Amino acid sequence: MIRFEDVDVAFGEHRAVSHLDLEIQEGEFFTLLGPSGCGKTTALRSLAGFVQPTGGRILIAGRDVTRVPSEKREVGMVFQNYALFPSMNVRENIAFGLTVNKRGQTDAKKVSKAEQTRRVNEIADRTGLALSQLDKNVSELSGGQQQRVAIARALVLTPRILLLDEPLSNLDAKLRVQLREQLKELQHEVGVTTVYVTHDQEEALTLSDRIAVLDAGHLQQVGTPEEIYDRSGTPFVCRFIGENNRLTPAVLISLGSGPGAPALDATAESYVRPEKLHLAAPDAAANSPASLDGSVVGRTYHGSHSVYTVAVEDTTLRVSVPAGASAHQWDAGDAVRVDVDPRWILQYPAV
Ligand SMILES: Nc1ncnc2c1ncn2[C@@H]1O[C@H](COP(=O)(O)OP(=O)(O)O)[C@@H](O)[C@H]1O
Ligand SMILES: [Mg+2]
Repeated sequence: MIRFEDVDVAFGEHRAVSHLDLEIQEGEFFTLLGPSGCGKTTALRSLAGFVQPTGGRILIAGRDVTRVPSEKREVGMVFQNYALFPSMNVRENIAFGLTVNKRGQTDAKKVSKAEQTRRVNEIADRTGLALSQLDKNVSELSGGQQQRVAIARALVLTPRILLLDEPLSNLDAKLRVQLREQLKELQHEVGVTTVYVTHDQEEALTLSDRIAVLDAGHLQQVGTPEEIYDRSGTPFVCRFIGENNRLTPAVLISLGSGPGAPALDATAESYVRPEKLHLAAPDAAANSPASLDGSVVGRTYHGSHSVYTVAVEDTTLRVSVPAGASAHQWDAGDAVRVDVDPRWILQYPAV
């Protein structure tokens, strides 16, 4: 449905997007993820037609749209700050695209009043807006409701592609999670190809069919949430997503020395996530191909899990233990064994 072919976007000397190659399938929920300033918004704006690439091509449904004006691309866009019209009520905001022509002029004949009402009511219902809210001024609505109006305003035009730029970032944490789930359901129901921009890895992991991770304008990896998390393709992706322990050469040598343990490249940049490590009593029956002897330094309680800091070899590792996973609670100074399945060790050989 969407193809970026070697797309560059430069602002003067500064390249915000560099040699971007991407393919997004019809109906997919696709996320551009990366730290602030990595070029996510610029890539999305180039797809929307708000910014012109300085190199490469963008295709929508097989058609080269690189030079096609935004209003002819059949894309709907939702912004972080909602960008609603403050002087219009909710109904007028949602209906806006149905009342203006391609040149942005009001055109009463475009869609009949009755048809407008029908479509606005239908999309309001889908996006979780009560009919009683349609006659309110948008300023009377909460942030979450305003963002629903912005999504409804984009969807009422039945775009081929829905673009969302950090739409949940201005909302408080609880509402963000709630709206995230509803957004996922809505996208599933409507089936519209969606490109979502966020710097929030949890949002990306929970919402997306696939994720593209960007760093400084460069594509780092494209994959399913599981691939991005469990098989991070580059050290950048590995460090950006989730939490990590960096493994020292001494730890890698020790892990590789047990009977049946696989050889690990002690010179490679290596990581393992805290929840992939397990704590056991030093004399417990072996249950993984590799382990380390250590001693507990401390523990922090997080409700759903605890994180133990454990000294091993010449470093400390963070080990995440789900609440209720172990009858045993370790104290500082306790001798423990850290078990690890080497499949979860991510290695990036020095080049
Ligand atoms: N209109 C612009 N003019 C000049 N520089 C810009 C413009 N828009 C974005 N940039 C720069 O391009 C880089 C990427 O910006 P942006 O795409 O907004 O990143 P993100 O959305 O990932 O935070 C940043 O360094 C930003 O300062
Ligand atoms: Mg941005």
